[in-house]
Amino acid sequence: MRARWGLLALVAGVAVAENGLSGWLRYASLPDGQRQQYASSLPPLIVALNSTSTSPVYTAGQELQDGIQRILGRKLEISHEHSTSTSSNSSFVLVGTLSAYNKLGSQSLSTDFAPDGFWLNIKGGAVTIVGQNERGALYGAFEYLSRIAQGNFADADVVSNPDAPIRWVNEWDNMDGTIERGYAGRSIFFANGSVATDLTRVSQYARLLASVRINGIIVNNVNANPRMLTNETIAGLKRIADSMRPYGIRVGISLNFASPGPDGLKETATFDPLDPTVIAWWEAKTNQIYQQIPDWAGYLVKANSEGQPGPLTYNRTLADGANLFARALRPHGGIIMFRAFVYNSNMNPAVWKDDRANAAYDFFKELDGEFLDNVIVQIKYGPIDFQVREPASPLFAHLPNTNTAIELQITQEYLGQQDHLVYIPPLWKTILDFDMRVGSKPSLVRDIVSGQRFSRTLGGYAGVVNVGTNPNWLGSHLAMSNLYAYGRLAWDPTGDIQSLLQDWIRLTFGSEPSVVKVITDISMASWPAYENYTGNLGIQTLTDILYTHFGPCPQCQENRWGQWTRADKSTIGMDRTVSNGTGNSGQYPPEVAAVFENLETTPDNFLLWFHHVNYTHRLHSGKTVIQHFYDAHYDGAATAQTFVPAWQSLQGKVDGERFDDVLFKLRFQAGHALVWRDAVAGYYYNLSGIADEAGRVGHHPYRIEAESMALSGGYRPVAVDPFEAASNFTAIVVGSGPNNNGSGEAAAVLDFPSGTYDVAVGYFDVAGGRAHYGAFLNGEPLHEWYGDLEDRLGHEFSTKLDAHSATRITIPDVDVKRGDVLKIIGLADGNEPAPLDYVAILPKGVVD
Ligand code: GCU
Repeated sequence: MRARWGLLALVAGVAVAENGLSGWLRYASLPDGQRQQYASSLPPLIVALNSTSTSPVYTAGQELQDGIQRILGRKLEISHEHSTSTSSNSSFVLVGTLSAYNKLGSQSLSTDFAPDGFWLNIKGGAVTIVGQNERGALYGAFEYLSRIAQGNFADADVVSNPDAPIRWVNEWDNMDGTIERGYAGRSIFFANGSVATDLTRVSQYARLLASVRINGIIVNNVNANPRMLTNETIAGLKRIADSMRPYGIRVGISLNFASPGPDGLKETATFDPLDPTVIAWWEAKTNQIYQQIPDWAGYLVKANSEGQPGPLTYNRTLADGANLFARALRPHGGIIMFRAFVYNSNMNPAVWKDDRANAAYDFFKELDGEFLDNVIVQIKYGPIDFQVREPASPLFAHLPNTNTAIELQITQEYLGQQDHLVYIPPLWKTILDFDMRVGSKPSLVRDIVSGQRFSRTLGGYAGVVNVGTNPNWLGSHLAMSNLYAYGRLAWDPTGDIQSLLQDWIRLTFGSEPSVVKVITDISMASWPAYENYTGNLGIQTLTDILYTHFGPCPQCQENRWGQWTRADKSTIGMDRTVSNGTGNSGQYPPEVAAVFENLETTPDNFLLWFHHVNYTHRLHSGKTVIQHFYDAHYDGAATAQTFVPAWQSLQGKVDGERFDDVLFKLRFQAGHALVWRDAVAGYYYNLSGIADEAGRVGHHPYRIEAESMALSGGYRPVAVDPFEAASNFTAIVVGSGPNNNGSGEAAAVLDFPSGTYDVAVGYFDVAGGRAHYGAFLNGEPLHEWYGDLEDRLGHEFSTKLDAHSATRITIPDVDVKRGDVLKIIGLADGNEPAPLDYVAILPKGVVD
């Protein structure tokens, strides 16, 4: 009904395309020439030394059969016994545990194995895969398959052990099926208040996780519902555990600290961790879980944080709280992950010396040594909250007598919510490789969390993933490299992040060199670009932390949540020095503290994290702070523009469905990167009054502001709030209200030299309506589109005109003559008043 101009050609997808469901486990067939010789050298039999279908060794056998058949085109049989007839074969593909292998008697293997480790031996077609345990055997099988899927048939003899025992993922799924900070649809675990009936996607997810050597999962939100512990939910959790067990994934849940008490299941009078009735309740509940799920992983707890209940309510320590669960879990071998993300979320920005970044250290340092040995303190990588750049949390340096794990985010909460390409491992590496110099000795964060540095036996990694029902898991094909690399880095944090990326590319998109090169190039450029256009010099991601966490809003930081930038007319940055500020630099061990305390030695990319300076302060680079801001935002946004043509060069080399999906996202990113650039640069220009030396900020020679076009019908100008979200602070809208169906026209005579231009249209796409736009040149239709991004993208949408909803499209190659009339017709729909910001008439190669 809405398509009144009939320009939209509805092209039905005919080719069988790839939707990303198998992720990097596609087992795509290799070209005949590549696979034939190796396939014929393989023996006819896979021997998987376990016949129980829930065993990861059994899974390994199936996976080898399936993978070899699909990659190499040859079906091998599976035997679960190593009989005389099989051993008389000259070779076979064998997979089993160390103990099963040694029982074969032919030879005894005494490799130095850690739990979950594996030995992979490839000699021509003879393949031996031995795991320290069942999980290790499966990991070895996946390693072999990864090699052949990449066309690597070389002989090998490798022992691979994990760097850390805890390699978990966290999912922030709610029981109603929504996902906190999830950008890929609804939960695969829960629906309508219960565990989902169909757990097919859960098994498929377990397979992906196992292939990158993840061994545990927390399936629900850290802001947990007490109803996770009802009998009905526990029965559902058993089904989840059953679905994931064949892949060696142990399941656990996040707990609400007050679950038994009056605000929870109402089975005890308090939730005081030292109250005997509370202790007995948790013991009984934990026993009940283990009775049904003997390999239960344990619990994750967010206590006394962001409104969640915790032990402090009863004047008990956080260690008292953690140990309550540790005691209940200990007899069963379970683990309690206790989050260090505890802070006062009602802070006063007027107090100069207050600092949320100090909180984790302040709460936990003095508790070192008080946690039982099945407690792991789970620490976010930085002191604030998954920002685009943070220094490593100082707390890592101060718990030598406590197990620790690092919490990373795969879901891109502050990093573009999967609608901006950001390959995150380069950011993680800055943290993992950071040397805390505890006791003036090498103390890399990765060696602290692995347990190595302080001789702890437990520790490792927790990655917040938040996959959803979207077929491609994260809502973005390219974002899956983050999940892949997360698993591989948790196994070996010294891994080369570009090589990991390229393994993932070959497995996901094939080995065509230009495909590998382009995806490598754009992925490796993506985090630096995102940092440049969203918040550099350590100022944090300058997003709206009170709302969507998606688009820019620099002024939104100065509120009770304590993520302050302290920007005013002439200065900016948090003074975290000991001498004059919050003292945060002093939370680091002395050698590191000395670097951050001193303005001269603080690296530029942390300048505003640690220091409050004038906009005119000169960086080590020689630029002023404000000029660096301007340049970085322009550079970062310019880099994002290059992703589109780079990807377009792969047309025909990537299947159509994934090609189109990725192209759509990269185009959106290119437009939204400009929103970021203009909003942040414009905001600080407005605040400081200091002009951009290059004359770009606030000058848009190729734009025509919508409010200065000839408006007719229902279009009228509105001031946009925040002002920096709109070009010239103003947009035009048609009517208002929830059932808006008005229309309007905006026209301009083009005063540009005749030639071929790209015509960009800046507009706003809000949730709750699908406005319809048409662009016409001299009355001839150029392009039509809908404000329907909410149907096609996964980020959190805004209902208002702001920098989350601001976006732009580009109509390429338009022949324009001076004096032509460009007209935009907007038809409002529902909550969306067909908002328009500007049009830009861009000569080739110009971005404005
Ligand atoms: C962030 C995030 C919340 C989350 C919290 C946490 O603040 O925005 O959604 O609950 O972190 O990690 O506990």
